[in-house]
Amino acid sequence: MTQPVLLVKDLVAGYEPGVPIVRGAFIRVDKGEIVVVLGPNGAGKSSFIKAIAGLVPVSGGTVHLDGDDITTVPAHQMVRRGLAFVPQTENIFPLMSIEDNLKVAAAILPKKEIPARIAEMYAVFPDLAERRRTAAGNLSGGQRQMLAVARALIVRPTLLVLDEPSAGLSPKFVSMVFDMLSRIRGHGMTILLVEQNARAALAIGDRAYVLVEGKDEHEGIASALWNDPVVAELYLGQRAKKSDGSAP
Ligand SMILES: Nc1ncnc2c1ncn2[C@@H]1O[C@H](COP(=O)(O)OP(=O)(O)O)[C@@H](O)[C@H]1O
Ligand SMILES: [Mg+2]
Repeated sequence: MTQPVLLVKDLVAGYEPGVPIVRGAFIRVDKGEIVVVLGPNGAGKSSFIKAIAGLVPVSGGTVHLDGDDITTVPAHQMVRRGLAFVPQTENIFPLMSIEDNLKVAAAILPKKEIPARIAEMYAVFPDLAERRRTAAGNLSGGQRQMLAVARALIVRPTLLVLDEPSAGLSPKFVSMVFDMLSRIRGHGMTILLVEQNARAALAIGDRAYVLVEGKDEHEGIASALWNDPVVAELYLGQRAKKSDGSAP
């Protein structure tokens, strides 16, 4: 078997000592895959990927990126190590122009490469090119997410990690965001995606994990998971538990 891009084993993480939110989670992402993390609200999905990205303290387990142990790498060094994280909110600078947002994100690259790299991002995201002088805060929700993703991709990461990129978007922009992610994967990018929008995420994903109470409860091929009754119950969480009266 080839080496996975991301391998997370037995991860334990939380915000306060002795209060684990992520409780022994496993995940594997292979090159060129889109892997989706699903789960009920409060399951710890955001905490899980933030812990992977160095943003939540890890107290157990390991995170390997392309075979390198990055478990204790601080968040601000992750991008240099090849992991680009797009948070759910506050992922752009709204008062800066689109172009300046890209320049700031590209700052870790050698100076002479930056203009060409910005041009490449404009080629991938023509909407951004058209509005390059516009303040990012004036973009539509969908275009903002494009800019956030372009900011992450500009440094050529090994892995792109996104927290609910479709959250709060109208249906038209939701499909725009998922189309964009499919397209980026088509260019060879490897993607780890947390989503509430299970149907759309499973439609573009290769495999998915269902996280419940900080542990991965279920893993499978994305297309099969959508029809899996066990997943339906886990994913629907409280509703399923209440309706059949079983213990949580
Ligand atoms: N910054 C924080 N400080 C303390 N607890 C937090 C923080 N963020 C999230 N939590 C707690 O972690 C648990 C999981 O939250 P989260 O990871 O956001 O779940 P999800 O993304 O699946 O909805 C929740 O109980 C939440 O209250
Ligand atoms: Mg979340």
